[in-house]
Amino acid sequence: MKSPLNHKEKHHYNFLKKDIIRFHFSPNKSSVFFYLTCLILTILLCFHVLYYPKTLNYTPNSIQYNQTKTFIQPQKGSENCDLFKGKWIREERETLYTNYSCKTIPFLKNCFLHGRKDTDFLHWNNSKFVISQVETPKSIEKDPEDRFATWEFPKHNFTLMVFWSQFLVTATERVINGTTTGGFDLHLDKIDTRWSEKLPLMDYAIFSDAHWFFRQNYLYEGGKLIGCIYCQGPNVTDLGPALAIRRAFRAAFQAINNCTNCRKIFALLRTYSPSHFENGTWNTGGGCNRTLPVGKEEANSDGWEYRKIQVEEIEIARNSGEESGNNFEVLDVTEIMAMRPDGHPGVHWGNRWMKGYSDCIHWCLPGPVDVWNELLLEVTKRRIDLSLEKL
Ligand SMILES: *[C@@H]1O[C@H](CO)[C@@H](O)[C@H](O)[C@H]1NC(C)=O
Ligand SMILES: *[C@@H]1O[C@H](CO)[C@@H](O)[C@H](O)[C@H]1NC(C)=O
Ligand SMILES: *[C@@H]1O[C@H](CO)[C@@H](O)[C@H](O)[C@H]1NC(C)=O
Ligand SMILES: *[C@@H]1O[C@H](CO)[C@@H](O)[C@H](O)[C@H]1NC(C)=O
Ligand SMILES: *[C@@H]1O[C@H](CO)[C@@H](O)[C@H](O)[C@H]1NC(C)=O
Ligand SMILES: *[C@@H]1O[C@H](CO)[C@@H](O)[C@H](O)[C@H]1NC(C)=O
Ligand SMILES: *[C@@H]1O[C@H](CO)[C@@H](O)[C@H](O)[C@H]1NC(C)=O
Ligand SMILES: *[C@@H]1O[C@H](CO)[C@@H](O)[C@H](O)[C@H]1NC(C)=O
Ligand SMILES: *[C@@H]1O[C@H](CO)[C@@H](O)[C@H](O)[C@H]1NC(C)=O
Repeated sequence: MKSPLNHKEKHHYNFLKKDIIRFHFSPNKSSVFFYLTCLILTILLCFHVLYYPKTLNYTPNSIQYNQTKTFIQPQKGSENCDLFKGKWIREERETLYTNYSCKTIPFLKNCFLHGRKDTDFLHWNNSKFVISQVETPKSIEKDPEDRFATWEFPKHNFTLMVFWSQFLVTATERVINGTTTGGFDLHLDKIDTRWSEKLPLMDYAIFSDAHWFFRQNYLYEGGKLIGCIYCQGPNVTDLGPALAIRRAFRAAFQAINNCTNCRKIFALLRTYSPSHFENGTWNTGGGCNRTLPVGKEEANSDGWEYRKIQVEEIEIARNSGEESGNNFEVLDVTEIMAMRPDGHPGVHWGNRWMKGYSDCIHWCLPGPVDVWNELLLEVTKRRIDLSLEKL
């Protein structure tokens, strides 16, 4: 296991002491993109495989694994249901993978490794679908921190690329007197070319981003400072995260619709994923140690505003993408994840630099976040069915 204490986290620790930012966990991969060449139906299966490699040494009760065969099987009559509404249902079956069968669980999300004892949270299912079948991917390239990676699924002629772009637009970390601050200068009108220049290769693009905006960031347009997020400078207006989130996602979707040498792209936005700090914020002793999901009434409405912005921007992109044949959809996970305060690492995230602090933003693996893959598969399948109908 590689050491989790890279220099970035040490910085995090420094910032904590200075107490100048609101959220400070190294977040999820901020954006992930698919690149696919053919055999569309299999792509999501491949995505799923990242979490259970060939070393899998058990077979879940009702799913048969067969390296040479692929199947996707939605339940009968489920074709028209709303994927993103529902409740979590208790289910006694085994999880699809464990920290033994899956060697690629990121260290900080391997909650059982870090002492989490309760397992109830694993046995809830929101999914109306059966997903199965995998192909072990070949790692083509990756950086030491797993922020940029390329995986190939040779049998399916499919390539999965991961890009780490915290803001989707260009950003540089602010340095004051030689010390990085954890806050960034964001150029809301300049797309981060680390991902956008790969667009011509892609058939699918999945956006998974938001929490980095909740820092003390400074916002620029046309090279001019227009305001900030959570700052208290005399000459700068605190515009809050909402505006920055809106502009950044808009620019990202425009990059897709403006791309002249691209194929038709199916873009998916994973909507805001709520955090669940209780009795305080991350830096004032807040935590999350529940062991069961909550009902819709009890679910927190943290981030609902940001989800709304994201959905609005998808609508705008969808309308202007019609001409170019691009498609824009959401993986609307906000509500279902709001019901899972039990799914976060809490104190079980193994970071020595921030002992005592809880991570109520990221999700344990395995855990409720696995349902995102199932939703991704179903949304994509529906899209493909629709385009086949049109032929
Ligand atoms: C894989 O995809 C590429 C690009 O779409 C295509 O040119 C090639 O023929 C495909 N290969 C196979 C084996 O299907
Ligand atoms: C797996 O696939 C092979 C080849 O198609 C087939 O012969 C075999 O019966 C399958 N096994 C199962 C368990 O489905
Ligand atoms: C897996 O989880 C168990 C607790 O369920 C823990 O004791 C063990 O260290 C973990 N192993 C790995 C390789 O993460
Ligand atoms: C969730 O429930 C559905 C419907 O009962 C089932 O088909 C599916 O396999 C379950 N998924 C998991 C991960 O348990
Ligand atoms: C930077 O260092 C100078 C000289 O030590 C000091 O006067 C100034 O207050 C520092 N600025 C900040 C923002 O800490
Ligand atoms: C704020 O703006 C005023 C007027 O432009 C200027 O005199 C002052 O130095 C600025 N303050 C800071 C902290 O930049
Ligand atoms: C996309 O094109 C429009 C119209 O030409 C332009 O206003 C916008 O800035 C472009 N956006 C990006 C991100 O390239
Ligand atoms: C928050 O406080 C309530 C009431 O004191 C307590 O029941 C709950 O366990 C606390 N939650 C956490 C995560 O500390
Ligand atoms: C959660 O933490 C609070 C405060 O530390 C504690 O009182 C409570 O018993 C904990 N709940 C569980 C389920 O561990």
